[in-house]
Amino acid sequence: MKVLVLNGPNLNMLGIREKQIYGTQTYEDLKEMIDTYCQREQIEVEIFQSNHEGALVDRIQQTYFDGTHAIVINPAAYTHTSVAILDALKAVQLPAVEVHLSDVSSREAFRQISYAGMACEKTIMGKGFAGYLEALKYLKEAHDK
Ligand code: DQA
Repeated sequence: MKVLVLNGPNLNMLGIREKQIYGTQTYEDLKEMIDTYCQREQIEVEIFQSNHEGALVDRIQQTYFDGTHAIVINPAAYTHTSVAILDALKAVQLPAVEVHLSDVSSREAFRQISYAGMACEKTIMGKGFAGYLEALKYLKEAHDK
């Protein structure tokens, strides 16, 4: 099974940005954790991060042509603004899970809408890095059924 893990703006700053919300582990730590899990679970994974909306849209579109089976996405701030990312997810029609490190439901009003989430089967929030593994587990089990 081939999965794309997509991360949006400022997630490359994990370990530096707002540690009281996002913790002290770095983006490198996140990638290492996902890689180790995927190796163990026999999931082929690509992890992609961009601070640019169009680059995320381009990468989602590419999944239509490259044999990807499922998507894990943390669109970060674009969660709450990007109809373009929502439309790209709808265009490729792959099973997708939305992940947020923090519990966005208990944060500011402007974080209460998720456009990307409207094209996802499931949303996992407030579980930190473990949320990504839960998303991978869910998608792998659905794929193997
Ligand atoms: C986030 C939540 C978003 O509201 C925020 O803009 C982020 C990270 C999370 O993982 O908790 O950058 O997606």
